[in-house]
Amino acid sequence: MPVMSSWKHLVIGFVLGAVTINIYIPFRKSCESVSQMEGTTRQAASEPLTADTLKCSQSFKTKPVPVSDGSSRCLPLEDGLSDQIRMGWIKKRKETKEILAKLDHLMPHVTFSDINKTTSAKNSKVTILNPKDSYCVGDHLMVQLDLYDHSGNRKNYGGDFLRARIYSSSLKAGASGNIKDFGNGTYQVNFTLIWEGDVRVSILLIHPSEGVSALWAARKKGYDKIAFTGKFLNGTSESTAECGFNMTRNAELCEFLDERDQEAFYCLKPKHIPCGALVQLKSYNKPISYLTDLERSLLERSNIGVEIPHRFEEIHVLQCGGNQTKASEKCKFGMSPQFPSGFLWQNQWYPLFCNMSPFNTLEQIQTCLKGKLVYFMGDSTVRQWMESLKTRLTSLVYLNIHNSGKPQKFIAVDTAKDIQIQWKKHGHPFIGSHEYSIKDHSYIARDMDTISGDKDTAVVISLGQHFRPFPVEFFIQRAINVRQAVQRLLLRSPSTRVLIKGENTREMDTDQERFSDFHGYVQNLATKELFQDLNVSFIDAWDMTVACNTQKVHPPDFVVWSAALPFASGQTPAATGKKAEREIQS
Ligand SMILES: *[C@@H]1O[C@H](CO)[C@@H](O)[C@H](O)[C@H]1NC(C)=O
Ligand SMILES: *[C@@H]1O[C@H](CO)[C@@H](O)[C@H](O)[C@H]1NC(C)=O
Ligand SMILES: *[C@@H]1O[C@H](CO)[C@@H](O)[C@H](O)[C@H]1NC(C)=O
Ligand SMILES: *[C@@H]1O[C@H](CO)[C@@H](O)[C@H](O)[C@H]1NC(C)=O
Ligand SMILES: *[C@@H]1O[C@H](CO)[C@@H](O)[C@H](O)[C@H]1NC(C)=O
Ligand SMILES: *[C@@H]1O[C@H](CO)[C@@H](O)[C@H](O)[C@H]1NC(C)=O
Ligand SMILES: *[C@@H]1O[C@H](CO)[C@@H](O)[C@H](O)[C@H]1NC(C)=O
Repeated sequence: MPVMSSWKHLVIGFVLGAVTINIYIPFRKSCESVSQMEGTTRQAASEPLTADTLKCSQSFKTKPVPVSDGSSRCLPLEDGLSDQIRMGWIKKRKETKEILAKLDHLMPHVTFSDINKTTSAKNSKVTILNPKDSYCVGDHLMVQLDLYDHSGNRKNYGGDFLRARIYSSSLKAGASGNIKDFGNGTYQVNFTLIWEGDVRVSILLIHPSEGVSALWAARKKGYDKIAFTGKFLNGTSESTAECGFNMTRNAELCEFLDERDQEAFYCLKPKHIPCGALVQLKSYNKPISYLTDLERSLLERSNIGVEIPHRFEEIHVLQCGGNQTKASEKCKFGMSPQFPSGFLWQNQWYPLFCNMSPFNTLEQIQTCLKGKLVYFMGDSTVRQWMESLKTRLTSLVYLNIHNSGKPQKFIAVDTAKDIQIQWKKHGHPFIGSHEYSIKDHSYIARDMDTISGDKDTAVVISLGQHFRPFPVEFFIQRAINVRQAVQRLLLRSPSTRVLIKGENTREMDTDQERFSDFHGYVQNLATKELFQDLNVSFIDAWDMTVACNTQKVHPPDFVVWSAALPFASGQTPAATGKKAEREIQS
């Protein structure tokens, strides 16, 4: 399979049985052309409003469209929609299904009735395959993991979600290891020894394969793990209503549709208030779970990220005549990623496969950003990039754009140097217990379509954390919409720089069914797959946050700055674009 090379850093790799995939298509019966944010009303059917239960509605012209699995689905057919767009939808569904099937193929599908048969970190073993008194910088340390269950029996299948890292606390250094799953309870980790000093090995069992299997199955089951509350403002009178992606009430609904990209969001319509009166949203975790008690017990904090013990001491790494980084090539746009993508040393990140020119003085960054228009789009992890830049470039000032609260759009300018930077949240779903305005809410694809682009324009996209509690096809479909917008942008302006910031790891004490890193890991795989043929850079924030062992959804500033620095200094390593790379080489 041609795609496999981008999946090679998989921690998960076990297959069991065939699986039926139901793709949930949020876009439903209405074909009315409406602005996505104004909303229209409709009478909800009494059956759940999902594509799978969708029957061809009489009131709209529909036509069954054969899809690859032989079944047929109803697509709205409306004069305003070109065949091209409709064909696009079919292709998108097909691609979504293909990615889902690939992911599904990688997952363990196991059930268990005895907790003692699940993987135990404590009973598992770590051994060095190439033991030496000392190693040289540049050598590889090969480590084997043999996993056992709580009763002390060997595991005979894989799929465990593991995290491997080498580190030297005194040097504030760290790097991730490349884990290979043999599918039989044995794993091998390949560490590149990068710095001189005493190095320790840490292997964490994040979730046993049984937990992974349970999380993967539970994720498919519904859109209702998170509920949204909408605030409608009608003059001075307020009213609230439940909102979400899968509204099943037999009541009048407000529909907020993005017809082109088939994105939909709904609210129960408050009586006598127009849908356009929706001004704010907040969310809460619905007390709902698709896990059994036994499965949930695997996902308690005490069972997450448990260190697999080992007996060996520190590894001694010597210079042996080499230098710490061997990369000689200068970082440039369009290089393909390697793993690990870099390492932490003295709390600073060094890319491994290209030599970043020392670009730390403020002046240099200011020079690089002169005349630039930068769009950060997505979640708060790229807002952090903007904040990180803002604290360093004190000449940047925030404009007051008459909004309040953090998830509001930010614009910062330096008029003397003609720099403009902005951050804007991605559209639904946006999870937050504090109310946020949805009046500037729009999907990334729509925002990108308004950018003309040029060589002094950069777009940095971050998508994922807010999607973890929803079925993964929802994320995949969104990522495809974003990719298509990137393709349109690069078509009209090939010199615009586009960076995808991958997801980073987060806290282990969050609700795992909703927010486990496993969900983010899967989304990262899908993202790499989807963007691999585009001329965009991919910042492997996962690798960085594993190496730095931060475990925070908002990593500390030195990690954020490490990720943002190549960008701020005009050097953007780690492009996903295989195709771009080929083109550059030829
Ligand atoms: C699991 O193993 C422990 C210790 O060996 C034992 O006490 C316990 O009863 C076992 N649990 C089950 C469900 O078999
Ligand atoms: C698992 O598979 C690998 C590769 O085929 C092999 O080297 C290893 O010995 C196997 N482990 C067990 C316990 O069979
Ligand atoms: C470890 O990874 C490096 C590349 O990072 C590769 O060259 C080497 O062959 C790997 N070692 C083993 C034993 O797989
Ligand atoms: C939508 O909600 C209904 C009723 O709660 C449920 O049966 C159905 O599985 C949900 N569908 C999705 C895709 O979440
Ligand atoms: C909303 O405003 C309209 C126009 O002012 C008014 O007719 C209607 O009664 C209001 N609805 C509520 C629930 O206050
Ligand atoms: C190591 O780096 C230093 C400067 O940092 C350089 O002078 C020296 O030649 C390098 N040595 C090797 C073997 O590359
Ligand atoms: C890729 O993007 C970079 C940066 O915008 C540009 O310089 C380069 O020409 C592009 N390469 C291709 C093959 O389009």
